[in-house]
Amino acid sequence: MEAEVTFLPSGRTVQVRRGTSLLDAARRAGVHIPTRCGGKAACFMCKVKVTGDSELLPIGEAERRKLAGMQDQAFRLACQARAAGKVEVHVPLDPLRAAVQKQLELARNKNKDDELW
Ligand code: FES
Repeated sequence: MEAEVTFLPSGRTVQVRRGTSLLDAARRAGVHIPTRCGGKAACFMCKVKVTGDSELLPIGEAERRKLAGMQDQAFRLACQARAAGKVEVHVPLDPLRAAVQKQLELARNKNKDDELW
């Protein structure tokens, strides 16, 4: 059986075998998800958020332990969570890119304020 994983914000979608990890699906889709531990549920770098109606295999013990309750807010580890059907994954911006984007927004807003005066 196939599964379909869509990554946001890029909107890239990939068909994978049921049981494929979200990290492997991301790699197939050309979506970058940072990792440091090589997919051993140790580094927490691959944390993503899935939409509520995403079809995933039941969470494993290593992932449950690492997330410590964050799975209740739809967070999952991409290296551990496995697709079972349609899945929608929100990939957070990497921290450096998010900081640069925030600074650019602040600069843009300041320029708008300066134009008003
Ligand atoms: S890659 Fe390290 S926790 Fe997933």
